Amino acid sequence: MSTAKKQYKRITVKSLIEMKKEGEKISMLTAYDYSMAKIVDDAGVDAILVGDSASNTMAGHETTLPITLDQMIYHASSVIRAVQRALVVVDLPFGSYQSDPKEALRSAIRIMKESGAHAVKLEGGIEIKDSVKRILNAGIPVMGHLGLTPQSIYKFGTYTVRAREEQEAEKLMEDALMLEKLGCFALVLEKIPAELTAKVSQALRIPTIGIGAGAAADGQVLVIHDLLGMTHEFNPRFLRRYMNLYEEMNVAIGQYVSDVKNKDFPNESEQY
Ligand code: KIV
Repeated sequence: MSTAKKQYKRITVKSLIEMKKEGEKISMLTAYDYSMAKIVDDAGVDAILVGDSASNTMAGHETTLPITLDQMIYHASSVIRAVQRALVVVDLPFGSYQSDPKEALRSAIRIMKESGAHAVKLEGGIEIKDSVKRILNAGIPVMGHLGLTPQSIYKFGTYTVRAREEQEAEKLMEDALMLEKLGCFALVLEKIPAELTAKVSQALRIPTIGIGAGAAADGQVLVIHDLLGMTHEFNPRFLRRYMNLYEEMNVAIGQYVSDVKNKDFPNESEQY
């Protein structure tokens, strides 16, 4: 049974900030389609991320780079149609905001207007300051994303833990403070040392949402396919699997195949 607190009828960016103030942890999960978003929302998750991880989970790409703005809008619209309570945040995909702030704003407006989403998320710190500012000035809530930023995978070369070195940790703290000052309502911290997450979370008024960033974050986010055990070949240390759905689906589908082959399905009561 869900233990999520249900006192918020509809989660807004302000509710998340309030939760941090009251010491209530924030739960966030990804969803990319109507059916999954309905289950996630009904289970009481506070925020849903239409992540560009759809590029991996839904389209089978190796990285998040290939997914387009049109594809993100398609996923976000499907999710929005299902959700009644959670705050829906949508990733601006690679190539839709890096070249200049006007393009970033145009992309964010398209997401808000065409999908009905509630907020956007961008990866990066000082490098994207002007874009974040411009989007915020248009009244669009922005979630930041620091640490491991998968859209820069070819710059990093690996998906290992970020900001272990002092210099990178200092830059991350500066970027976090800057994003809060600009007006971001929350910050994803991906794959950084738990101690650094604690420092950043203490320094900020806005909530931090961690993935592989330890227990001190104000909330946690996971990719729904990982949590459900649909991606059984992905096994990072930070991942807690709540199901082995790959295995369960494999058995169920195998049973269906055998029932069809054996002429066991459909039976008398399953036909007209
Ligand atoms: O796209 C995504 O799923 C994300 C999470 C890993 C935070 O950005």
